[in-house]
Amino acid sequence: MERSPVSRITVIGGTGYAGSAIVAEAAARGHQVTSLSRTLPDAPIPNVTYVQGDATDEATLSAAIEGADVVVPSLAPRGPLADSFRDVNRTIARLADAEGAVLFVVGGYSSLRPAPGADRFVTDLSHIPAELHGEIRAGAAVIIEDLPATPATLDWVFVSPALRFGAHMPGERLGRYRLGDDVAVQPEDGGAISAADYALGFVDLIEKGDHHRAQVNLGQ
Ligand SMILES: NC(=O)c1ccc[n+]([C@@H]2O[C@H](COP(=O)([O-])OP(=O)(O)OC[C@H]3O[C@@H](n4cnc5c(N)ncnc54)[C@H](OP(=O)(O)O)[C@@H]3O)[C@@H](O)[C@H]2O)c1
Repeated sequence: MERSPVSRITVIGGTGYAGSAIVAEAAARGHQVTSLSRTLPDAPIPNVTYVQGDATDEATLSAAIEGADVVVPSLAPRGPLADSFRDVNRTIARLADAEGAVLFVVGGYSSLRPAPGADRFVTDLSHIPAELHGEIRAGAAVIIEDLPATPATLDWVFVSPALRFGAHMPGERLGRYRLGDDVAVQPEDGGAISAADYALGFVDLIEKGDHHRAQVNLGQ
């Protein structure tokens, strides 16, 4: 079922690498977009409401989520959020549920599987530098443990990107993407996707509303 043409979308971390691309794509399509971050952007996007605040403060989160149809957590499990990332995301999920909003989560690649029914990539991190393990495991735990444990009243979609995605490897907009479920669309080498193409697919998912309490992935 397609959602109404204009949605009120709150992006938590809407000035970051993934979040700012989703904010830009959603605003360009005429959605009413609110972004929450600790720092306001140098180049704000017209017609976007930028709220300055800390997501670890529940009252701040609650005010940003109030009235939203769709909530997009796009925080990263790094820096000061390294230890509180899962707690903050659980709070966002609870507040979205109370608001009757759908949760579309910016996820990671490592929680995907190489084949149907196979172990997720995160199960074997032996080839990944040890200093990244905590970040990867915290991100994956959101889809492995935390989202499935939410009340059935909460509708959520966890959107994983291809392996090569991030501020350290920004790609250009190609205007296309491939959509998969919890099996990576490019399991051989992990694939790549730019923030713009990820955002294109992400906002298409929001508008189409075809997925419920499910993990999907976007690759090229
Ligand atoms: N290949 C992959 O699998 C891959 C690669 C990259 C990212 N990702 C996923 O994408 C998601 C987002 O990552 P990203 O790279 O886009 O992150 P990012 O660029 O670091 O952006 C994080 C956003 O969150 C905001 N933020 C941070 N702490 C906050 C706080 N306490 N309160 C409010 N806002 C806060 C930041 O703004 P302020 O600092 O101004 O607050 C910024 O807007 C993550 O979940 C990550 O796992 C996956």
